[in-house]
Amino acid sequence: MFEAYPVPFEARLEARAHSVEMLLRQLLDGRALDGEIDRPQRLLAAMRHGVLNGGKRLRPFLVLEIAALFDADTEAAMRVAAALECVHCYSLIHDDLPAMDDDDLRRGQPTVHRAFDEAAAILAGDSLLTYAFDILADEATAIAARHKIDLVGGLARAAGLGGMAGGQALDLEAEKSTPDETDIIRIQAMKTGALIRYACEAGAILAGASASDRARLAEFGSAVGLAFQLADDLLDVTANAEIMGKATGKDAAAGKATLVALHGVDWARRQLSGLVAQAHGLLEPYGERAVFLKQAASFVADRRN
Ligand code: IPE
Ligand code: IPE
Ligand code: MG
Ligand code: MG
Ligand code: MG
Repeated sequence: MFEAYPVPFEARLEARAHSVEMLLRQLLDGRALDGEIDRPQRLLAAMRHGVLNGGKRLRPFLVLEIAALFDADTEAAMRVAAALECVHCYSLIHDDLPAMDDDDLRRGQPTVHRAFDEAAAILAGDSLLTYAFDILADEATAIAARHKIDLVGGLARAAGLGGMAGGQALDLEAEKSTPDETDIIRIQAMKTGALIRYACEAGAILAGASASDRARLAEFGSAVGLAFQLADDLLDVTANAEIMGKATGKDAAAGKATLVALHGVDWARRQLSGLVAQAHGLLEPYGERAVFLKQAASFVADRRN
């Protein structure tokens, strides 16, 4: 459907989100896998609450579009996309915990610790993170072993100490200090940028793309990642909770270190345009084939939620 009938960007994003949602639903059904002793019902329900609740599925979209750019196998790309979305959803569940951002609303619904309890939210996050690596390693993810190792190692680096989790730690520390622009950019490149950069690099890795394409798309991912958090911080100031499906106005209240707080809304909007232009520039070599990726970079900056 995607190649034969050109569809507008938003419809394509929605269609891809739907396919990913179907796969996630299947991955999170009640049947225990080989080697699993049992799937505790309440924990599984908490995981499903944190995953099968809408979400833009932007990271999966980037994986799938980049894999398609190199004509990779769609089914394998879907599983990599689903694995990454599990890590993203885990990061949101933990981000919302009382010890972190203490939020009650996510994707228009009560956060996992609100709908269940804190222990369930912590364990749902743990189980989703682990499950991501299970999904990648599983033989159903039909990718050459050397590429799979890169995918597993890359996800570990992007999610952990030197990536998302490390960035979250710095983000919380920064509530109590006054970081400068360089500090804030590093925090954002870690807490948000690392998984988005990985989404883009993973699409290229699973497709067996050349080292130079991998590097170029990873760089594209870094620009999109910074743009993404900048837009999120702008929306925290300019949008309302109903549209966002999560509380707004919280960054200033929590004393969060953001570029919007440091330089203001107009500066942030200009910076955002610069990042989108940089992302578009990196796609030049792919011409018309990268049209949806280009639109994805613009969408990140223009989105309303
Ligand atoms: C929210 O991510 C968390 C940040 C990294 C800013 P998204 O805006 O992609 O959240 P969902 O997945 O669409 O809910
Ligand atoms: C979260 O950044 C980044 C993550 C790693 C989850 P935020 O704390 O700004 O994300 P929201 O605004 O709660 O979605
Ligand atoms: Mg946070
Ligand atoms: Mg938060
Ligand atoms: Mg935010």
